[in-house]
Amino acid sequence: MARFLMITATSGTNRDLADVFASTATAKGHDAEVVDIAEMNLPMFTMARSKNPEEAPDISELVSAMTQADAWVVIAPEYNGSVPPTLNNAIAWMSMDWQSFRTMCTGKPVGLATHSGGGGAHVIMAMRQQFSFIGADVIGRACLSGRDKEANPETIEAMIDNLAR
Ligand SMILES: Cc1cc2nc3c(=O)[nH]c(=O)nc-3n(C[C@H](O)[C@H](O)[C@H](O)COP(=O)(O)O)c2cc1C
Repeated sequence: MARFLMITATSGTNRDLADVFASTATAKGHDAEVVDIAEMNLPMFTMARSKNPEEAPDISELVSAMTQADAWVVIAPEYNGSVPPTLNNAIAWMSMDWQSFRTMCTGKPVGLATHSGGGGAHVIMAMRQQFSFIGADVIGRACLSGRDKEANPETIEAMIDNLAR
């Protein structure tokens, strides 16, 4: 049994997809939790804000959930051929504690998924590059869905099986 954290960058169709990943994982006997980064309403990262304790957000709950999980599925829509600002923003805040961020990410099995307006291939590529860069072990298979393409349940099942290794 593995502990999964489904991390969604937005609260609409991608949140729905995160819930499908979570229910697929629990149906297979795993633990699964969904965290919605958009709901956290984090202030925009700036160096100035990061140095001001009154302005820097408390992200300890997110970091603790991510640390305790055996695997993550990151689910985000494509925005302008790349990742949405909520995701980059959360990563920027977490990376301020650079050493523990690196430790948390290194070797973490990560799956990628999207529900985008178009195909979503660009956001998957962008996330693959980013999560590989921060040391995670990004699996090859990804789940792409959009207005004209439902998420494939077989892909979701195969990703959960692969991540639970
Ligand atoms: C600012 C912005 C930029 C977008 N850029 C793209 C894009 O480059 N490619 C794409 O396929 N969809 C794009 N979309 C559409 C979103 O990916 C799509 O609406 C997605 O389903 C939104 O996710 P949500 O329902 O979880 O909020 C964009 C949407 C917004 C708001």
